[in-house]
Amino acid sequence: MTEPTITVNISEQPKKSYPIYIDNDDIKTLRLKLDEETKNKKRLVIFSQKVYKIYGKSLGFDKSEIFVLKDGEREKNIKNYEKIIKKAIELKLSRKDIIIAIGGGVVGDMAGFAASTYMRGIEFIQVPTTLLACVDSSVGGKTAIDMPKGKNFVGAFYQPKAVYINLNFLKTLDEEQYKSGFGEVIKYGFIEKSCYHNEYFDLLGFLKNHREDYFKRDNDFLAKIIKICLELKSAVVSQDEKEKGLRKILNLGHTFGHALEEETKYQRFTHGYAVVLGIMFVFNYGLKHNFCDRKYYEEAFTLIDFYGYNLPKMWFVNKKRTLNYMKTDKKSDGENITLIIPTNYGEVTEKTVQDVEFDIQYKIKK
Ligand SMILES: NC(=O)c1ccc[n+]([C@@H]2O[C@H](COP(=O)([O-])OP(=O)(O)OC[C@H]3O[C@@H](n4cnc5c(N)ncnc54)[C@H](O)[C@@H]3O)[C@@H](O)[C@H]2O)c1
Repeated sequence: MTEPTITVNISEQPKKSYPIYIDNDDIKTLRLKLDEETKNKKRLVIFSQKVYKIYGKSLGFDKSEIFVLKDGEREKNIKNYEKIIKKAIELKLSRKDIIIAIGGGVVGDMAGFAASTYMRGIEFIQVPTTLLACVDSSVGGKTAIDMPKGKNFVGAFYQPKAVYINLNFLKTLDEEQYKSGFGEVIKYGFIEKSCYHNEYFDLLGFLKNHREDYFKRDNDFLAKIIKICLELKSAVVSQDEKEKGLRKILNLGHTFGHALEEETKYQRFTHGYAVVLGIMFVFNYGLKHNFCDRKYYEEAFTLIDFYGYNLPKMWFVNKKRTLNYMKTDKKSDGENITLIIPTNYGEVTEKTVQDVEFDIQYKIKK
C-alpha cells in the first residue's frame, strides 16, 4: 500500500484519523485501489451524473452497486437522500459495508450524510473529482443536505475512511467549475496564518507568481495547491473537528456567499465564485471598520482580479432578504451575523455584528 500524502489526525479521537492520497496515476488504477480498500465489503458507489458519463465505463463498477445523482446544488435534497438510503437497503448493506462518493462536493456531502445516518453510521470513502472537492469539501467531515429554509441545514460531522484524489479528473472540468474550486484555494491564502499549521507556505505569495500555471492547469501546480489547502484544512480540523471555535475561519466569505447562492436560487453563481464575492464583501467590511488597511485590501482585490473574478452589479440582490439569509446562516444566531474578517496578510478574525452595509466597492489601482 502506498504511503498517504497527508494524514488527517483528529486529536480528540485518534481512531477517526484517515489518509489522503494524491496522485496522477491512470484513472483505471483507482478502481484497483478502491477494490483493495473495500475488500470483503458490499458497497454503494454514488456518482455525480457528469462524472459517471465521462468515467463510469473506465472505472467499471458493477451497475447494481451504482447510484447516479443528477447534477446541481438543488439535488442535494431530502428526496435524493431517501433514494440513496433505499438503494443501500436494496443492496442489503450492513454496518460493516461501505459507501463510496465519486464526484463533486454535492455528491460528497450527500453520500457522507447518507453514510453517517444509515444504520447509525457506516464507512465511506471520498473520491473528489472537482477542484473544489479536492481542495476542500472531501476532507474535514462536514456532510449535509439542503432544506428549503437553508443550505446544509441538515447534516453531521462524519469523517471519511479515506480520500483518493486523482489529478486526471480535473482535466475534464469545465472552466466555470475549475474557477469555482479555485475560489476556495484563494480563501486558504487569506486564512493561512490563522490555521496555525506548523509549516508556512505563503500561499498568497505563491498564487501571485503562478497565474500562468493556473490557466494551463499545470499538474505540479495543482498537486501543490491541493496539498497546501488540505494541509491547512487538516491542521484546523485536527484542532477543532466540530467547529466550536477555530474551524469557523474556514467560513471566510461563506456568510455572504451562501446568502447570495440562496438569494439567486443557486442559478447565478457557483459555490466557489459566491465565496470569492463573500471574501470581497468582508474585505470591504474590514476596510470600512478598520480591521485591515488599504494596502492589504488593494493587494487582495488585485489578486482576485488577477484570477478573473469580477464583482457583478448587485442590482439583483434584495438586501433585506439577503441580510435575513445571513442572519439565519448556521454560524449566526438568527438576530446577529457572524463574519470572518481579514485583518493582516493571511490572517482573519471573527466578529458578530448586528447589521452590515451592502456597499461593496471594487476599487483597485491599476
Ligand atoms: N463539506 C464541506 O466541507 C464543503 C466545503 C465546501 C463546499 N461544500 C459543498 O460542495 C458543493 C459544491 O461542490 P462542487 O463545486 O464540487 O460542485 P458539484 O458537486 O455540483 O459539481 C459541479 C459539476 O461538475 C461536474 N463534475 C464533477 N467532476 C467532474 C469532472 N472531473 N469532470 C467534469 N465534470 C465534473 C459535476 O457532475 C457537476 O455537474 C456545495 O454543495 C457546497 O455546499 C462542502
